[in-house]
Amino acid sequence: MKILAVESSCDETAVAVVEDGRTVLTDCIASQVALHRLYGGVVPEIASRRHCEFISATVKKALLDAGKTIDDVDAVAVTFAPGLIGAVLVGVNFAKGLAYSANKPLVPVHHLRGHIAALYLTHPELKPPFLCLVASGGHSHIVEVQDYTHYHILGHTVDDAAGEAFDKVARTLGLPYPGGPSVANAAKTGDPKAYRLPVPHVEGKYNVSFSGLKTAVLNEVNQAQMKGTDINVPDLAASFQERIAGILAEKLLLAAADNGAKQVCLAGGVAANGRLRQLVNDGAQKLGAKVYLPELKYCGDNGAMIAAQGYYEFKDGNIADLTLNGLPTLAIDYR
Ligand code: KG4
Ligand code: ZN
Repeated sequence: MKILAVESSCDETAVAVVEDGRTVLTDCIASQVALHRLYGGVVPEIASRRHCEFISATVKKALLDAGKTIDDVDAVAVTFAPGLIGAVLVGVNFAKGLAYSANKPLVPVHHLRGHIAALYLTHPELKPPFLCLVASGGHSHIVEVQDYTHYHILGHTVDDAAGEAFDKVARTLGLPYPGGPSVANAAKTGDPKAYRLPVPHVEGKYNVSFSGLKTAVLNEVNQAQMKGTDINVPDLAASFQERIAGILAEKLLLAAADNGAKQVCLAGGVAANGRLRQLVNDGAQKLGAKVYLPELKYCGDNGAMIAAQGYYEFKDGNIADLTLNGLPTLAIDYR
């Protein structure tokens, strides 16, 4: 079964065709990163307008690259939540028009479920149940993936998402957007022990909090400015990365140990972080759990992950009618 999927929830206009949830026939991304970098972050209004401009051509290119026409596709999937609402609505409306004109079923996909489904593209043998940390620009959840469409949230951030913390710290350090790759790159030559950053206290065994950590980095920069000294950017980037990756890995592994998880996974943009991957890999092996990490190209937003999840949503009977609306927020375990 072939699913064409549209993803437009943030700053990537992405369209893919995936067969049976696992085989990628094409995965096209029109990235807006260079545009938003000028402003130091995603400007929602600009993102929506760019999606409007790029979406038809991206769909056309995806079908062309796959050597298919819309008639060869069995369903149209689309990210309908959560995300920047103006951006989401562009994809939802386009997908509706496409499904309507081609007389195909319309499958609504939750963006974070899509991030988790990216793991199926990299690891065809992976099947639920497994434990997954989904960490992106807007969310940080520790989720028990019970089956392809059933989730149980064990922990979440009580303030900033992990990716958001990377982005804000990058900005504080004068590093370009997106912050995750910039901080990771600067950290390569830094000493992770150079700055002593706090471990934030948080209620809830598997919850995380990054707002205090972000403020601690800002305080280091402000104090240096007041003293007229320079911050060592690689050292501060490395110290921050070590702390945030340490917290995320520790909470995920604690949840894995408590729940006897046999399979431990990472998903979302922050899953591209090398230090986090290393810590989770090492820690899960000690627990005797198998680790599954998404290929780097499937960590960030893409259409293939939405098509992969679209397949499982379709099989579960999750078909929308043409009144489908976009939603800025929606829990991953919605029914
Ligand atoms: O999943 P994603 O592409 O979009 C959202 O759904 O938000 O995640 C984007 C986030 C950004 O905050 C970005 O800075 C972060 O993922 N990110 C990283 C890395 N690459 C991207 N964070 C840490 N290390 C990275 N290598
Ligand atoms: Zn995302």
